[in-house]
Amino acid sequence: MERLQKVIANAGVASRRKAEQMIQDGKVKVNGKLVTELGVKVSDSDRVEVEGVELTKEVKRYFLLYKPRGVVSAVTDDKGRSVVTDYFDDIPERLYPVGRLDYDTSGLLLMTNDGEFANLLMHPKYNVEKRYVARIKGIPEKEKLQQLARGIMIEGKKTAKAKVRQLSFDKAKQKAIVEITIHEGRNRQVRKMFEAIGHPVQKLTREAYGFLDLRHLNAGESRELSHHEVRQLKSLAKFGQKPHS
Ligand code: URA
Repeated sequence: MERLQKVIANAGVASRRKAEQMIQDGKVKVNGKLVTELGVKVSDSDRVEVEGVELTKEVKRYFLLYKPRGVVSAVTDDKGRSVVTDYFDDIPERLYPVGRLDYDTSGLLLMTNDGEFANLLMHPKYNVEKRYVARIKGIPEKEKLQQLARGIMIEGKKTAKAKVRQLSFDKAKQKAIVEITIHEGRNRQVRKMFEAIGHPVQKLTREAYGFLDLRHLNAGESRELSHHEVRQLKSLAKFGQKPHS
């Protein structure tokens, strides 16, 4: 469900502010009924008319982007840095990222113009598994990695159980590569988790999101998701997966 003024604005009829005015001025109908109060939410199946003309629905698009490092997970950036939408200049729909990856993190990021889909996937209740590969400073003791797997306090709250395995280490350079799968999405969570065990992250990549991975893509490349993948993601978000034991 999305706010009526947002739906009108997204359809390109008017700015959000102007759309609010149009609602208050009695120019908007939902399913044939006049709506003059703000705060009404509508879904995809609702028919919205503005000044007697039905809104044409934007085609819903879903993409998987291999976000490079040094790109902001946003639609615009006030510091003029590259943003993820720069990779979709030829797509007329207004895409935005589903959640975010840090500026310095590379990897799998979903992009869509489907607000309900984005909200569903980002809802804490339905969090989908995300697999990361981290290069960390130093070589962690087994017990430290087990701590991460069991859950660790970051900012006063324990993280949920995670899957953790060390992929390799370099004794001479004192660094290790560790794969970690989490299903929460707290801000800079993976970096904070490794920081908490005394092994700060030097490089971080999100390799998988649910059943999706970065196969056949290089950094900066994207592909459109199939119908089937979108349906699978929706059901994954709704029915979820059990936390690891
Ligand atoms: N955890 C992080 O620390 N950074 C990300 O970008 C994603 C998860």
